[in-house]
Amino acid sequence: MNNQSKMPNDLSSFWMPFTHNRGFKEDPRMVVSADGMFYKSADGRDILDGTAGLWCVNAGHNAPRIVKAVQQQVAEMDYAPNFQFGHPKAFEFASRVADLFPEGMDHVFFTNSGSESVDTALKIALHYHRARGDAARTRLIGRERGYHGTGFGGISVGGISKNRMHFGSLLTGVDHLPHTHDIAKNAFSRGCPEHGGIEKANALLDIIALHDPSTIAAVIVEPMAGSTGVLMPPKGYLQRLREICTQYGILLIFDEVITGYGRLGKASASEYFGVTPDIITTAKGLTNAVIPAGAVIVSNEIYQSAMDHADAAIELFHGYTYSGHPMAAAAGLATLDTYAEEGLFENAAALSSYWEDAVHSLKGGRNVIDLRNLGLVAGIELAPRAGAPGSRGMEAMIKAWEKGAMIRVTGDIIALSPPLIVEKSHIDQLFSVVAEVIAEIE
Ligand SMILES: Cc1ncc(COP(=O)(O)O)c(C=O)c1O
Repeated sequence: MNNQSKMPNDLSSFWMPFTHNRGFKEDPRMVVSADGMFYKSADGRDILDGTAGLWCVNAGHNAPRIVKAVQQQVAEMDYAPNFQFGHPKAFEFASRVADLFPEGMDHVFFTNSGSESVDTALKIALHYHRARGDAARTRLIGRERGYHGTGFGGISVGGISKNRMHFGSLLTGVDHLPHTHDIAKNAFSRGCPEHGGIEKANALLDIIALHDPSTIAAVIVEPMAGSTGVLMPPKGYLQRLREICTQYGILLIFDEVITGYGRLGKASASEYFGVTPDIITTAKGLTNAVIPAGAVIVSNEIYQSAMDHADAAIELFHGYTYSGHPMAAAAGLATLDTYAEEGLFENAAALSSYWEDAVHSLKGGRNVIDLRNLGLVAGIELAPRAGAPGSRGMEAMIKAWEKGAMIRVTGDIIALSPPLIVEKSHIDQLFSVVAEVIAEIE
């Protein structure tokens, strides 16, 4: 069977997520297989994966150990409930996940996605305060331009207007920090920007003054914001948020759905920045995206408090049919083994300066108004066209696909985040495509 014959006859039934459906269905970009750093397109071309799928295939495609673990698990036990029963791999998986996160965060709640991890984290935060008799702490603070998935909790604390404006009144009692992006002061920063960290974090003090700390349950931020167009935290920002939250008894949640599992060259952004939150949300790289899964890592204080203050036999009335699914546990254990044995977090760290140079080699490119990098992440911001914001970004994505690379765009910002198995030759290939694409876009 040649690849062309793998094209479906009908594209209309599948309502594609976060996609310009009408445009895609006129001119589909279809991938039919994948291996290592490459996809294969339906017309038989190798497509370099510049985005690790959707920031999730950190160990590269078809990693043999993960494939084998999933095959074995499906034959051994397809499904087991974790409500009032259990299976050993879920427990083993939880301990292995906890080992990767900061000291004092030893408990893991499993979900099926980043969005569910965020909803779970917000609910655990509310539950924590209420169970301890601090029931007035119900407010949740997110951040402008934040992305926390698409559940009602996530879009409420999230700060991307298109993700919010169509969906009613959302959760009540939510406020937002200002975003941290400041091109005027920080354009073309290498790594974390110099300016604005303390000032932007201190904006939390104004929100606290407005609502009173006794009403605030939690602050949630992405330590490095990915989906909004790659915004690095300015220096000192996360440390200052931690100080303020501690001072006022507010829980700090880091949404590490993108940064977890090696993206910055460490197991987590919390480790990378040396800042320990109270709750960490993860998904994506947890299982290399082979089986959908998420994990919420909580502090010992939060877990113990739920045990100590339980008002019923069940301490937390929350969970999913597939929390700790055997397939996810098997895929996840094999994923964590692969990361460790192949030294993939270390590879990301070792290549990050080569990556940084490649990113900043685009300086002076047509319409390029900012370049950002951290770990194995890049943000390339193009000036929007007058009256047609987003059109340059869309053109860039399509041209890169035609030239053999998968890149991701948010508006006019190109986001790159390759699998952590990437080599220098792949980085050269990716940036040569991106440079060509940028040069061609008027
Ligand atoms: C920071 C962050 N949180 C949550 C999510 C949502 O994850 P999912 O699409 O698995 O629900 C994403 C997805 O990109 C994300 O980047």
